[in-house]
Amino acid sequence: MLRALAGETLPTPPIWMMRQAGRYLPEYKATRAQAGDFLSLCYNPDLAAEVTLQPIRRYGFDAAILFADILLVPQALGADLWFVTGEGPRLSTITTAAELNALKPLDDIHKTLNPIYETVKILSRELPKETTLIGFAGAPWTVATYMIAGRGTPDQGPAHALKAENRAVFDGLLDRITEATIHYLSAQIEAGAEVVKLFDSWAGSLQGADFENYSLKPMQKITQALKEKHPETPIIAFPRGAGERYTGAHAAIGADCIALDDGVSASWAAENVQTAGCVQGNLASRHMVSGGEDLIRETRQIVDALSGGPHIFNLGHGITPDADPANVQLMIDTVRGG
Ligand code: CP3
Repeated sequence: MLRALAGETLPTPPIWMMRQAGRYLPEYKATRAQAGDFLSLCYNPDLAAEVTLQPIRRYGFDAAILFADILLVPQALGADLWFVTGEGPRLSTITTAAELNALKPLDDIHKTLNPIYETVKILSRELPKETTLIGFAGAPWTVATYMIAGRGTPDQGPAHALKAENRAVFDGLLDRITEATIHYLSAQIEAGAEVVKLFDSWAGSLQGADFENYSLKPMQKITQALKEKHPETPIIAFPRGAGERYTGAHAAIGADCIALDDGVSASWAAENVQTAGCVQGNLASRHMVSGGEDLIRETRQIVDALSGGPHIFNLGHGITPDADPANVQLMIDTVRGG
């Protein structure tokens, strides 16, 4: 994994999967039931480390991703956060200057986030040394879409509306999230994360100059600050839904690796993105549900198309709860066995 991130072309790509610790695994569901709810699991270092390790034990992935959530940063900044079963996250909203100013100072975020650094420390002790530990955070735009709407939204409408109607509050919120994320990821690296990843899951809804100003630039600010403090730590960025704007993303973000969703073909990415550095991706998650010959064919096609440069095999987005664990094994065998 680290060699691919350093730009090496490898005979077999390293593999991990977004949401690899999750509800498709019976052992995850058992530990989650033991923890109580999802947030209690995130803030329990022993159990969070346990669910991080479960997919490594079962499948021998080349990387483990810290078990946590992108919405812990808003919570650390003082937003209320809870999860409604079957629906998703809910947060208290930030849409006014008064609400923005009421957020906690940056130095306070570690009080909430300390258990996460504890999880990272446990993992860096317990993971096999050949397994790379990935820390992560949400990118500012994506985190802001949840803080402004108070929930997930299909089109990020409330965040677009605030951007149009009250640019000062919108910009102020993005800045706060950007600064908090620099602090949070630095602390993860200091605790033992070997790579960090920025998830900009809703980058695709930004049009024109907004994509540059609110997806690329805030991520670049974060990578610049991290590279100054921790120049040896590779960074993966995921501007999901970027489409043709994936071209040039390595340089615009200052990332070592760009994660591709399944909206672009691997052969297009080989010519237009991988020429600038390592890429990660991008098998459609639905193959983890349907399996069979389609999974094998698509997996081989992606591995072949990206075999001429640095590549980390992954899905185009997170694995879904209805996935069959046997299909994950089939994918791994196909990548490693040809
Ligand atoms: O990838 C991993 O295995 C590491 C852990 C991880 C989780 N969330 C655990 C989780 C990571 C990297 C995330 C990132 C995340 N969280 C994103 C960005 C990536 C993406 O998927 O686009 C976003 C947008 C969130 C916010 C979030 N967290 C939502 C919208 C939801 C509810 C939707 C759902 O899938 O239930 C969550 C909950 C969540 N985060 C779960 C997990 C395993 C499911 C919680 C449960 O066990 O019930």
